[in-house]
Amino acid sequence: RRVGILISGRGSNMTALLRAAADPAFPATIALVLSNNPDAPGLATARAAGVAAAAIDHRPFGRDRAAHEAALAAALDEAGVEVVCLAGYMRLLTPFLVGRYAGRMLNIHPSLLPGFPGLHTHARALAAGAKLHGCTVHLVTEVMDEGPILAQAAVPVLPGDDEDSLAARVLVQEHVVYPLALRSFLEGQAPHPPAEAALVNPLP
Ligand code: GRF
Repeated sequence: RRVGILISGRGSNMTALLRAAADPAFPATIALVLSNNPDAPGLATARAAGVAAAAIDHRPFGRDRAAHEAALAAALDEAGVEVVCLAGYMRLLTPFLVGRYAGRMLNIHPSLLPGFPGLHTHARALAAGAKLHGCTVHLVTEVMDEGPILAQAAVPVLPGDDEDSLAARVLVQEHVVYPLALRSFLEGQAPHPPAEAALVNPLP
């Protein structure tokens, strides 16, 4: 299956997916990495790994999110992308792109959803006194950080944790769980499955 990855920055989750996909037994080829941010460090990482990577800057499109997304979609089509993985992609999506990839767009979010959707998840988990925190891979629907959960990994919140230490503990698990979730999703499903059919839990 041909997979496209959308990033906005560092791209460590992208790197985890690229590493997994380098195994010939992995059921995906990473056909394209796209960023809305031309300065995203992940673009160079992808190219260094021999993967096509391009920036489509959102700024020239102004408020016209759909036009920016149409440009993304055209690039994804050109690369033959069937499944899209959001990996630290920091733009809200409109119904245009969400609808186009319904049931075949995945996201990773740094909390145990449905807890703490949105930004600053680690600070909010600490402020709430959470004892467990983690990450979630889910199918993307029109509501941000909602959609059927494909996989989760939990970590403890330890005494003395700050936002950075907690984020680092979660990130290790993000890099484990995203490739597992993508693999299970691809192996378990027809090319364009309905969202309801995509519920899997690849973790032991
Ligand atoms: C990750 O924590 C991801 O869950 C969140 O943004 C961060 C992106 O990190 N949405 P990276 O770009 O994958 O390194």
